[in-house]
Amino acid sequence: MLQRTHLRRSDFILPVFVCDGVGVKNEVTSMPGVYQMSVDVAVVWLAEMAHAGFRAFIAFGVIDRIKKDANGSEALRSDNLVCELIRSVKAQKIEMAAMTDLCLCEYTSHGHCGPMTDDNATVDNDATLELLTLQAINHANAGADVIAPSGMMDGMVASIRTALDAADFSHVSVLSYAVKYASAFYGPFRDAADSAPAFGDRHSYQMNPGGAIEEALREVDLDLSQGADMVMVKPAGAYLDVISAVRQRSNVPVVAYQVSGEYAMIMAGGRNGWIDADRVIVESLTAIKRAGADLVITYFGERLKELIEQ
Ligand code: PBG
Repeated sequence: MLQRTHLRRSDFILPVFVCDGVGVKNEVTSMPGVYQMSVDVAVVWLAEMAHAGFRAFIAFGVIDRIKKDANGSEALRSDNLVCELIRSVKAQKIEMAAMTDLCLCEYTSHGHCGPMTDDNATVDNDATLELLTLQAINHANAGADVIAPSGMMDGMVASIRTALDAADFSHVSVLSYAVKYASAFYGPFRDAADSAPAFGDRHSYQMNPGGAIEEALREVDLDLSQGADMVMVKPAGAYLDVISAVRQRSNVPVVAYQVSGEYAMIMAGGRNGWIDADRVIVESLTAIKRAGADLVITYFGERLKELIEQ
């Protein structure tokens, strides 16, 4: 009666790693219980999760190395894995919001979030923006409900919003990864999506964990002024102060991403018998909501089916 923060299945967004093939379900070594799935397997799983009361998923493509190039051109093909997944989900009338992670790092041969500048020093921001607008329209054409740009490029929300509106997709929302730190907590994800940078790091476009909270708020202000419908803070657990500040600053839904490293640590502690993983799952997600997140992207969907009632 006196508890304020409760978890509901509809609070969560389920990540899906979609890979080539039929009947494929590969467990990610550093993320036990998380799978790379071919489209057919992913659709069956999503139908089950929708039936259990989960309301949204976010799709990531696991792209064969052979299809990767310096510009990530596979991202623009209308028959790529992410587009195929969304089309199947919609064709089967699965009642879930289809969100897509909009970034080129899963598609580039070098693993960076866009084409590089000539000296390979960093990502070419404006060249990347052009590709991201095309990728966004590609996802919208396949039926995406929410486009979530995660590359931290300057001006990305404005470019994507303008492009979507011009292509008659004004009803498609933009969830911006507005506050994204250059974090070691993303390690296991880069195995899951095969997107580790081949050289260098992401420090020139992701944020410094030691930076001032005002920097996070400036990122949020910029994205809101460019038309973001929702803003994200990532990672979640080590950045509860940031979630809280962003909640107070903005009048749109705030999404937090409990990332792969957070998942891996809880699972590892549980498997070693060092912590009670199920209790830590509920506690960590409760803390993220208490800090101010309206929605949480988490890999714990399967466990949450057991741990919370509806
Ligand atoms: C793509 C992207 C990343 C994650 C989500 N989208 C990787 C990165 O920025 O390196 C990480 C998610 C996770 O660790 O669970 N840019």
